[in-house]
Amino acid sequence: MNYLAGKVNSPIPIPSYYPSDIVSGTGAYVINKDGQRYIDLWMGYGALLFGHADIEIVDAVKNEIEKGWFFSYQTSLEKELSGIINSIIPSAETVRFATTGSDAAAYAIRLSRAQTNRKKVLSIIGGYHGVHENMIPSKGILDNDFLNLVPFNNIEAIEEKLVNNDYACLVMEPILANSGCTPPESDYLKKIRDICTKTGTILVFDEVVTGFRVDLGGAQKLFNVIPDISVFSKAIASGFPLSVICGKKEILENFIPSGQVFFAGTFNASPISLVVAKVVINKLKNSNFYQTNIELGDNLMRYISDQILELGLLASVQGVASMLTIAFGCKTFNSGVVLENINISAYNSFISKMAKRNILLPPLHTETIFLSPVHSAVLDDIKKAIRESLQEIKNEYY
Ligand SMILES: Cc1ncc(COP(=O)(O)O)c(C=O)c1O
Repeated sequence: MNYLAGKVNSPIPIPSYYPSDIVSGTGAYVINKDGQRYIDLWMGYGALLFGHADIEIVDAVKNEIEKGWFFSYQTSLEKELSGIINSIIPSAETVRFATTGSDAAAYAIRLSRAQTNRKKVLSIIGGYHGVHENMIPSKGILDNDFLNLVPFNNIEAIEEKLVNNDYACLVMEPILANSGCTPPESDYLKKIRDICTKTGTILVFDEVVTGFRVDLGGAQKLFNVIPDISVFSKAIASGFPLSVICGKKEILENFIPSGQVFFAGTFNASPISLVVAKVVINKLKNSNFYQTNIELGDNLMRYISDQILELGLLASVQGVASMLTIAFGCKTFNSGVVLENINISAYNSFISKMAKRNILLPPLHTETIFLSPVHSAVLDDIKKAIRESLQEIKNEYY
């Protein structure tokens, strides 16, 4: 029985060859109701840094829930975590906790407009910043005359737009993750920082995907470029609903009650999510997570790249650390896959072949594969399945 509208709870349809009856997860695996295990390469849209059902997180949640899980009063935990965020995220002079990445991105835009008294928003083609009315084209949304988009890794396009000093903000993922994983070219982010400073444009880094995944201080730390506002979600609480808006004190203080920018949310700063975030940050601080994940990602990317070359496929693989994308029909994609003439049918065929081998990739070609150290133990299985699937793709398409 499935009374879900359109059968799903997401914009992404479930391919017929994918399981639609997942009941549990452990480590690198998701498991369906018949006990069939699948290696998961989507990892909760990147939220699950430590794989499924990490035992330290399970224990922390069990312990916290017994103390009560929802209070309308301020908690010690929210103040403590704001201090932790302040100490690890370079841009986080002050912090607010919300619930989803969409909330956080919408607040960043509202704050920017309030701070600058400007209306226009600049963003990146192929980026994604949530479901709110400011950014998403959809039937039912009034025309968004204040939004303009430019290609990723094209500094001239940004310069051209911002030259008249009339944009409230530039909202962007520092590593484009929603149009195939696309790293910034060298100095792209630094140049953007300079242009935004010169033109009085608030620079918003949407680190909903990159935050805590590529570095404890986010992509802003990795590339040493400090935005005015940053937003985080997904990995910070390993899949529990939590988002963070942080940035310059003078901007964030505009939130009510100290300022006039509206901010609210019944489930903001849920203690369970906050306690998980504390565990996540401690684990990241006290393990070789980043080194393991970078090696894992590099190892897999190198392997896929070698296979593509050896088989003579028109395809590419690219990414940063534990985020990577395989695209068919192009040799590289510097501005994301949506601006390339890529072969979506080959991607769909590839993931169906992987699914036959009980390995699940993101079912949408613009999404990113996310690795976790838990994949180390199954890396050889993943490689074998990739090799066999690519060989079949060669026979079908090339
Ligand atoms: C970069 C980025 N920003 C914002 C969002 C929206 O987050 P949420 O789905 O939690 O509202 C997403 C979701 O995928 C995202 O990838």
